[in-house]
Amino acid sequence: MDKFVIDGGRRLFGGLRAQSAKNSVLPLLAASILTEERVTIFDVPMISDVACMAQILRELGAEVSFQGGNAFIDSADATEHRIPSALTKELRSSVFMLGALLSRFRRAACAYPGGCDIGLRPIDLHLNALKRMDAHIEERDGYILCACDRLKGADIVLDFPSVGATENILLAAALAEGRTVIEGAAKEPEIVDLQNFLNAMGAKICGAGTDTVEIEGVKKLHGVEYHPVKDRIEAGTYLIACAVCGGELEIEGVRPDCLGLLLHKLRENGCKIHTKNDKIKLTSSGRLKCNRKIETMPFPGFPTDLQAQMTALNASGEGCALIVENLFETRYKYVPELKRMGADIEVDGRNAFVRGVPRLHGATVSCGDLRGGAALVIAALGAEGVSDVLDLAHLDRGYCDLCANLKKLGAKIKRVRV
Ligand code: EPZ
Repeated sequence: MDKFVIDGGRRLFGGLRAQSAKNSVLPLLAASILTEERVTIFDVPMISDVACMAQILRELGAEVSFQGGNAFIDSADATEHRIPSALTKELRSSVFMLGALLSRFRRAACAYPGGCDIGLRPIDLHLNALKRMDAHIEERDGYILCACDRLKGADIVLDFPSVGATENILLAAALAEGRTVIEGAAKEPEIVDLQNFLNAMGAKICGAGTDTVEIEGVKKLHGVEYHPVKDRIEAGTYLIACAVCGGELEIEGVRPDCLGLLLHKLRENGCKIHTKNDKIKLTSSGRLKCNRKIETMPFPGFPTDLQAQMTALNASGEGCALIVENLFETRYKYVPELKRMGADIEVDGRNAFVRGVPRLHGATVSCGDLRGGAALVIAALGAEGVSDVLDLAHLDRGYCDLCANLKKLGAKIKRVRV
């Protein structure tokens, strides 16, 4: 067990290049099972979610190796269609493998992923879509058992622009018989990246990034070498950290339009932001005004994955802020930890009412989930005094070299064994 010891109050200066996006690399790894040829994914972040997805592929019989930061996947000998339940529990998003496994093996099975620390996270949209494509699905004893002859293209309307459901359908439709049209698709940049990856394998997909995505099923997909899109959420996390601490940070590799409303909100806080192509430079005095309101929405709205980080920023802003979390039911579990640092926040259902205090103070706090943990690190970086941040396994799921990067920017942070 490790912890971060953070001595807050240091301004941050410098530049970082964003890592490849966790929420793109995961579906790309799943997609690699759709071909028996070699797949190479460059510049893969060494984070535990990626390691877990790689283990799932190995359990299915694929060979997965990492060298020089790149992932190499050979699934020619893969024959297993069941995802081990322990791995599904560890990596909920593995449920989008169902579409890929049905495409490759005509069968798929995984434990019901169940809820997690940010919400119920149902998968009805995934399963209804696969049924529309002629998959037979049985839910028995906490398991989801799927089978089909050959998946058939279908017209699918999503009640909610679910990222995972949209990805599952893309993975199912790429090799299905006939044409699939998704209405109400998620529009996140990671969906566009998955379309580009599959098309580079020989798929025929268009429309990703809009509400309507069309997939013409093909008979076979070939190997590919691919550079994933960079991680907009990681980039946003560092920008918010610099806003809170004060200083100047340039992030490279993420286009401004991939960050939804974040840059607009940071300008509202009083940050200066200049952008050029895939470079974003933020300058902050460290004394920020609260946002009147932040409401999380599907892309291109304000990203739910940056909600906790912006709540931490507003906790020591001037004024008050209303945070509304529209995507997940319980994505405020980090708030009691912020209150231990002196934050004045009241949570009522999906709303968090934040009254800015002049400065937070150091405390011992525990991460409960990935982005909530990032919020605690940000709060500790800006706080007066020393904080211990525990349960770093949550952070290791999605942030590669977090401690080293922050140290490089001037933060007084160290990772110590507890
Ligand atoms: C993806 O999760 C991301 N994870 C999440 O990032 C992100 O918060 C989320 O999209 C929203 O942007 C990965 O990409 C691995 P959803 P996903 O399906 O696919 C409801 C992080 O921190 N819903 O878009 O699970 C659901 O309850 C993680 O990196 C249904 O009702 O998100 C939620 O309210 C956390 N039925 C909403 O949709 C379904 O069948 C958004 O879920 C599926 C989803």
